[in-house]
Amino acid sequence: MATNNLNPEVTAALLKELDSYISLPAAQQPTWPSGEVLENVKATLSKYPPLVFAGEVDILKQRLAQAASGNAFLLQGGDCAETFVDATADRIRARIKTVLQMAVVLTYGASMPVIKMGRMAGQFAKPRSSDFETRDGVTLPAYRGDAVNAYEFTAEARTANPKRLLQAYNTSASTLNLIRAFTMGGFADLRSVHEWNKGFIDNPANSRYEVMARDIDKAIRFMAACGADFSELKTTEFYTSHEGLLFDYERPLTRIDSRTGTPYDTSAHFIWIGERTRQLDGAHVDFFAKVRNPLGVKLGPDTSVSDVLGLIEKLDPKREPGRLTFITRMGAGKVREKLPALIEAVKDAGALPLWISDPMHGNGITTANGYKSRRFDDVLDEVRGFFEVHRSLGTFPGGLHVELTGDDVAECLGGSEQIDEKTLETRYETVCDPRLNHSQSLELAFLVAEELSAR
Ligand code: PEP
Ligand code: CO
Repeated sequence: MATNNLNPEVTAALLKELDSYISLPAAQQPTWPSGEVLENVKATLSKYPPLVFAGEVDILKQRLAQAASGNAFLLQGGDCAETFVDATADRIRARIKTVLQMAVVLTYGASMPVIKMGRMAGQFAKPRSSDFETRDGVTLPAYRGDAVNAYEFTAEARTANPKRLLQAYNTSASTLNLIRAFTMGGFADLRSVHEWNKGFIDNPANSRYEVMARDIDKAIRFMAACGADFSELKTTEFYTSHEGLLFDYERPLTRIDSRTGTPYDTSAHFIWIGERTRQLDGAHVDFFAKVRNPLGVKLGPDTSVSDVLGLIEKLDPKREPGRLTFITRMGAGKVREKLPALIEAVKDAGALPLWISDPMHGNGITTANGYKSRRFDDVLDEVRGFFEVHRSLGTFPGGLHVELTGDDVAECLGGSEQIDEKTLETRYETVCDPRLNHSQSLELAFLVAEELSAR
C-alpha cells in the first residue's frame, strides 16, 4: 500500500461528502431496534481493515472494460443469500470449484479470458417484496439476510440485530481468506480444474458434452506439450461481489484511498444495485455514484429507456471503461421483446457498458407442492434470448450472472438429472432463491460455451 499522504481531517471531510444519501429515500433498509447498539457497530466497522484493496478494484475495472469492448467474458456466480452456518471450508471450496469449472468451459467456448467473480464473501443482505411473512396465521418480519436477522421463523430470530453486521464482516473476511488461498495456492491449476470436469462427463446423462470436454482436454495437453507453464495456468484472479444494500454496512466500510484521495467501498470488489433499489432519486444510486468500484445495476422487464439513460448519467457520467455493468433479468418470455430498445438507446447515447445476463430472477415459479423454483430450460432460454438480441444488434453479450451452489441440492427443476417437483422435497436448502446445483451449473456452462463458439 502507498504511504498515507492524507491527514485524518482531510479523510474525514472527504468521507462526509458521501453522506448526501442520508436525506434521500432509502428502500429496503431494516428496522433496527432503538438504542446505541447500531451506532457502536458502525463505529467498530469503520475501524476494521478493508476487505479488498483499491488497487485490486482498479484491476477488476480494467478487466471489465476489456469485457465491455468484447474481449473478455464475465462469470458471476454464487448463493442468492450466503449464510453464516454455510461459510464452511467444504461449501466455500465447492462453490469456488464450480465457478472455476464453468470458467474453463466458457474460456474454451469464447476463446477469450473469463473474469471470475463470486456472489460471495458479503452476500448477506436481501431485499424483500414484502416486509412481513405469514405462516399458519402467524405474521413476523421477513428474513432480510444473515446480516440483519435469522431465518428461523420465531419472533426472536426475525428481530433485526445490528451485531449481525459485525458477523457479516467477519464471515466475509474468513470466506475471502479461503478464496485467496484456493485461487493463489495451486487449487485453481487449470489442469486439475479440467480433471474435475471429467467427473461430470462420466455421468451418462451428460454424454452430449463429451466432444467439447475432449476438445478442451486436447487444448490443455497441447499447451502442456508446448511447455506452457505460465502462472495463469496455476493461479487465477477471483473477485468478490454482492448487492450493495445496507448503508449501515457499506458506508462504514467505504474508505478514502490514500493514493488517489477517492472513496472505495472496501466490502467487495464489485457492488451491484438491485432491481428494487435502483430509483434514480433514491439513496442507493446517490451513494454508489460516489464510490470508485465498478458497479452493476439489475434491469428487470419494466425498465424504461429513461431509467437506463438516467442510470448512465448518474453512475457513469464520464463514460469510464469498465465502470458500469447492466445485469438484465427480463425473464425468458420477455428478453427478446424488452431488451433491444434498451441496448439501442444506450448505443445511441454513446455509452459502452458491459451487458450481462441474469437468467435467474425473471424466471421464478412456485411449484404445485409449494416450492419457489426455476426451470433449467427457462434459464437457458433467457440466456439464448440474450445472445440472440445482442447478435442481432451487433453488441457483445458479455457475461453471465447466476445463482448457484457447489452442492448437490434440488432447487431448480430440470437439467440432465431431470430434477422434478417431488425431488425438490428431498434436497431444497436455500434460504432465499433457488440455485442451480453443481451439475446444472456445469451443464449451463457447456450450453453457453456452445453459444459462444457459434458467435
Ligand atoms: C438477487 O440478485 O438475489 C436479487 C434480489 O435480484 P434482483 O434485484 O434482480 O431482483
Ligand atoms: Co436471488
